[in-house]
Amino acid sequence: MKARILISGGGGQMGRSLQEILARQWPESDVLAPSHARWDIADAEKGKEFFSTFRPDFVINTAAFTNVDLAEEQREAARRANAAGPAVLARLSNDFGATLIHYSTDYVFDGRQRTPYTETDPPAPVNYYGLTKWEGEKNIQRNTERYYIIRPAWIYSGYGRNFIRLVMDLARKNAVLRFINDQIGSPTSALDLARFTLFLMQEQPAGFGIYHCSNQGEVSRYDQARAIAEILDLPVEVKPVPHTEFPQKAERPAYSVLSKDKIRQHFGWKVNPWRESLERILKTYYV
Ligand SMILES: NC(=O)c1ccc[n+]([C@@H]2O[C@H](COP(=O)([O-])OP(=O)(O)OC[C@H]3O[C@@H](n4cnc5c(N)ncnc54)[C@H](OP(=O)(O)O)[C@@H]3O)[C@@H](O)[C@H]2O)c1
Repeated sequence: MKARILISGGGGQMGRSLQEILARQWPESDVLAPSHARWDIADAEKGKEFFSTFRPDFVINTAAFTNVDLAEEQREAARRANAAGPAVLARLSNDFGATLIHYSTDYVFDGRQRTPYTETDPPAPVNYYGLTKWEGEKNIQRNTERYYIIRPAWIYSGYGRNFIRLVMDLARKNAVLRFINDQIGSPTSALDLARFTLFLMQEQPAGFGIYHCSNQGEVSRYDQARAIAEILDLPVEVKPVPHTEFPQKAERPAYSVLSKDKIRQHFGWKVNPWRESLERILKTYYV
């Protein structure tokens, strides 16, 4: 089977991971993945040009303003990318008969729960990034019926600036690293998320809607950093600290673990344990 796949935000972590997986696992697909410099997703005219010339079967929106702290200050840019852009993409997908696959975030939740968030739990973002991402979800639902909104969390990959790079860079300059241990989430391997996205396109399972997709397990940044240091054998000591020792512009949810029951039950999807997936990414890209 062949498909024409338009990926927005082609230069980001997910944009690049998807291109890698598609080239390897679906080489017959026709992929166009313009970077931000070539395509601002909020630009409706430019979007129409891409849709009318490329005629995509699937549009994967990986484009977003992802710097959570900066989003508090650069509100217009954050809203443009995270809320206005998805509205444009949904309208165009609807007009051109394409299926829209969009990545949202665990940060739509407030973090007051102590059990994993399901797709039916009500969003209540605690920061501007989360608020704009939630608006993006609603804008998609208002403008097309053919959508999969996937909520990942704490994405890491072999590309760009991400948590693995941060730990590696800090370890080059410091003997002791301190990471927050009182904010708990479920990390997402970009390769696992790309494989799930590929599954949706190839199998086209019934059930448009919202799906949570991250790795299995509940960890803090401290747990994650310690695992990275262990697996890469970095000569550092990793110490836990409360979030109050790291003042940040944006508030973060204290607990944003996502339940993966829906993708297991609806699609029989096998969710990999977080440490196994982390090890795979580290061995693939960093050693
Ligand atoms: N990273 C995470 O931990 C995380 C967690 C949960 C959910 N997500 C979601 O997952 C998706 C993929 O994230 P990622 O980690 O791949 O992000 P990323 O590496 O930051 O990539 C996002 C890309 O979008 C581009 N972009 C920003 N504004 C744009 C616009 N208006 N039009 C077109 N492109 C634009 C950025 O380009 P510039 O850099 O040139 O601006 C960047 O290349 C996003 O929707 C994000 O919200 C991410």
